[in-house]
Amino acid sequence: WEYLAGDPRIGYLPKDMRKLIFAWTRREFKNLQRAIKYAVRVPEPIIFRNNVLVMEFIGDELPAPRLKDVEKNLEKRDFEELYSYLIGVIERLWKRGDMVHGDLSEYNVLLWDGPVVIDWSQATVRRNRMSLELLKRDLRNVTNYFARKGVDVEDYEVKFRELVER
Ligand SMILES: Nc1ncnc2c1ncn2[C@@H]1O[C@H](COP(=O)(O)OP(=O)(O)O)[C@@H](O)[C@H]1O
Ligand SMILES: [Mg+2]
Repeated sequence: WEYLAGDPRIGYLPKDMRKLIFAWTRREFKNLQRAIKYAVRVPEPIIFRNNVLVMEFIGDELPAPRLKDVEKNLEKRDFEELYSYLIGVIERLWKRGDMVHGDLSEYNVLLWDGPVVIDWSQATVRRNRMSLELLKRDLRNVTNYFARKGVDVEDYEVKFRELVER
């Protein structure tokens, strides 16, 4: 409820749980469309109705592996590339798209001929009162993960201030 309440795109927030879920579904669909505009590779949204969202399937028979699933097979170089890609995603979404994913982590990145960012239900716009907290969370999670993988990362609080103070 808190996540939706702060989102200015939602407008009147339904009291009824069913309708609340529908608003959540609709928002995830809008988030996918919006992320694509800012050159983030995501599953293409196809259609939604009520609590059901249909999107492009990433993978073939099985879903594509998550970053977490394949980390053991990756080399330092791969982590470095993924780190700079994901920081770039956070930056583009925020600066150009006025948007933040809010749950960016090794669990929500699929690797399928390059990284695909999934799980956009909680993503929101800059005008949401929670957006700064979510932005910082994304920067912190991504930075800490790649630091553990040996990447020479930038201080996430410095990056945060850089993004916010302009
Ligand atoms: N478009 C997609 N194509 C293939 N697999 C997907 C797709 N979206 C999600 N998945 C799979 O489903 C899992 C859960 O999806 P996710 O959107 O992260 O929901 P949540 O983390 O909220 O349960 C993912 O970890 C991934 O394995
Ligand atoms: Mg997820």
